[in-house]
Amino acid sequence: MDVIWILLGLLLGLLSIQYMKLRQAAALLPPGPTPLPIFGNLLTIKFQFHHKTLMKLSEIYGNIMTIWVGQSPAIVVTGYEAVKQCLIDNAEQVSNRPTTPYFKYYAEERGIIFSNGENWKLQRRLCLQILRSLGFGKKDLEGRVKVEANQLVEIFSSQKGRATDPNRCIMNAVGNVMSAVNFGHTYSLRDEVFHRLIDATNVVVDFGGTHCGQLYDTFPWLMHRLPGPQQAMYKHLHFFKQCVLQEIRQHQQNPSPEPQDVVDYYLEQISKAKDDPSSTINEDNLITVLMDLVLAGSETVTSTLRWALLYIVVYKDVQVKVQKEIDELVESIENLKYEDRLSMPYTNAVIHEVQRFTSVGPVGLPRQCSQDFTLLGYSIPKGTTIVANLASVLTDHKHWKFPDTFNPSNFLDEEGNFQGNKSFLPFSAGHRICLGEHLARTELFIFFTSLLKTFSFHLPQGVTEVNMSGIFGTTFKPHPYEICAVPR
Ligand code: HEM
Ligand SMILES: *[C@@H]1O[C@H](CO)[C@@H](O)[C@H](O)[C@H]1NC(C)=O
Ligand SMILES: *[C@@H]1O[C@H](CO)[C@@H](O)[C@H](O)[C@H]1NC(C)=O
Repeated sequence: MDVIWILLGLLLGLLSIQYMKLRQAAALLPPGPTPLPIFGNLLTIKFQFHHKTLMKLSEIYGNIMTIWVGQSPAIVVTGYEAVKQCLIDNAEQVSNRPTTPYFKYYAEERGIIFSNGENWKLQRRLCLQILRSLGFGKKDLEGRVKVEANQLVEIFSSQKGRATDPNRCIMNAVGNVMSAVNFGHTYSLRDEVFHRLIDATNVVVDFGGTHCGQLYDTFPWLMHRLPGPQQAMYKHLHFFKQCVLQEIRQHQQNPSPEPQDVVDYYLEQISKAKDDPSSTINEDNLITVLMDLVLAGSETVTSTLRWALLYIVVYKDVQVKVQKEIDELVESIENLKYEDRLSMPYTNAVIHEVQRFTSVGPVGLPRQCSQDFTLLGYSIPKGTTIVANLASVLTDHKHWKFPDTFNPSNFLDEEGNFQGNKSFLPFSAGHRICLGEHLARTELFIFFTSLLKTFSFHLPQGVTEVNMSGIFGTTFKPHPYEICAVPR
């Protein structure tokens, strides 16, 4: 009996010491909720960096605050001014990614999204260069997007106005753009591998943002050994990696005379670099670069398009106005060009407003500071995690006419011309700004206008209410819903 009391006493003592230590460390950092031993503030934020929870807390603690993830502090910045000072004015200082246990497990510090330092710079630069060779920012790329948009229109046509959940077919079209760019081929909607890949990418993207993901990052040793969603994540990630590896092998076995996709171009660079043993242009990095592109480029665009369709069936007047504008300018979807957005201010405003109001990447991806620096009067030590609440920038009351309602007028001036806004940062900002912004914007415009030119969308008969509240993972996506696409 005595032994138990002594052990309990020891434990309590240890916890108190830890508590005091945390309090001391916290005193030097920006304000925030009082951290508990072991959990820090994880109980307060319910194990999730949910943008809405963080916005509520920032009303109490201010536009820069500290949230403790177990024993490690994360600095959360809120609103346009603070986020700009952080990501843009201190771009160099905050350009690292934290190597949390989950990111490390996924990327092994390779590729683009979760790598750092020289390797990140090299892979990012090489990737952009390859994408440019493949027609990014040129007509070629639009061609690929249009092929998939036409395909998507055909799939909707084949539904003949029946109620369907558009999730899988949009994912198929968006995923195929990325797949064509990366691997030089596409997947049919009936392909079993395609569905397994989607399931895998969804799990891998979402895991980091779930309760389980936060637990994994706080207690990796324990979680690795326990049953739970993390075990399923391992399986999906393994499958995903094997698919990518198989694509690389196929390219090696049948090399094309002229490079046609990311794998071709990258393999060419690998053979150029093979005499330099220190080069990080190698197969391991290629695998992660490809996985990064698939992960970053599929669910984000898909969820945005799903939100867009949901908003235009709920706001029917918006749908009618978009269609009127498209009809005035575009004869048939064959003639659609990304450039047309410049002559379609209303449609362009609607797409921006969907991105603003739904905020598909609400807290972006975490950063880590590469050196000590001062932010908004607080000294932040090197290695601290930084979270920019992008959703709070997209609804910043100081910078939007209608911050809390869905209203395309947020992007229109008095005369109905398109008007941008510096607080529009759905792709984040600074050195880590989304690498696929141009592709994403092209896809959103071409897919959205192609669909609305061809169909009128409405809710299935009898359905009067939809849940617009959204599901938070790493991304923020709508609840599953069904709609009818009626040919116009
Ligand atoms: C609507 C669609 C998209 C949204 C809202 C979005 C948003 C974001 C955000 C918020 C980040 C984090 C940036 C940061 O650390 O501050 C990011 C990073 C990234 N995105 Fe996107 N993205 C989209 C589409 C795409 C597409 C289509 C691609 C593929 C070409 C892509 C590739 C990437 C990559 C590679 C990164 C990591 C950049 C780095 O760490 O250096 N994204 N994106
Ligand atoms: C953004 O919106 C605000 C609020 O309506 C407005 O004052 C500003 O001119 C807009 N444009 C830019 C470029 O920030
Ligand atoms: C919408 O979904 C959320 C969960 O994301 C749930 O809490 C809420 O009750 C739902 N609302 C309606 C009206 O069904």
